[in-house]
Amino acid sequence: MSKKNIAIFASGSGSNAENLIMYFNNTNTAKIKMILTNNHNAYVLERAEKHKIKSNVFSKEELNNTNKIIDLLLENDIDVIILAGFLLKIPQNIIDNYENKIINIHPALLPKYGGKGMYGDNVHKSVLENNENLSGITIHHVNNNYDEGNIIFQATCKVNKDDSIEALAKKIHELEYKFFPLVIDSFLKTL
Ligand code: GRF
Repeated sequence: MSKKNIAIFASGSGSNAENLIMYFNNTNTAKIKMILTNNHNAYVLERAEKHKIKSNVFSKEELNNTNKIIDLLLENDIDVIILAGFLLKIPQNIIDNYENKIINIHPALLPKYGGKGMYGDNVHKSVLENNENLSGITIHHVNNNYDEGNIIFQATCKVNKDDSIEALAKKIHELEYKFFPLVIDSFLKTL
């Protein structure tokens, strides 16, 4: 199997992006070829620089109303797109070119706690407010609607009554770091 080229879209810290970069540096299945972000202050840009991965910053307008991003993906021979904390909706032209090849990670057990506005701490806050006993991660394909693509994988963690948002976020991140690279790697083998 030839090495696949992956582009990661991220809007914030990018700890998952960095975890994926390190994982795929040690495999021959794929390479993280570029990091794309809509946020010029995103810490993920520093992580990209540290690992000498090409990065690109674009505006919402460029994403939605120009061919800048699709051209960049095609020019770089990107096979698979990974969303890791990316907060904008992926436009139709990218979805059409990458049918079933865009994967997102969501920090809760979809279909609950998904949809517009449900990201980061908002998700964990709602889970805690609803006294859920379980939360977890969902890795899924991306389609036209937020958080509604086919689910590939879920893993759960216990939520304790006295968990803070930070404590829950930490448990979720641990699941993400453990499973996201493995799930992507097995997905690549199906291509
Ligand atoms: C993760 O919890 C991910 O599930 C969600 O956004 C968070 C991103 O964290 N979509 P980081 O930027 O990878 O640290």
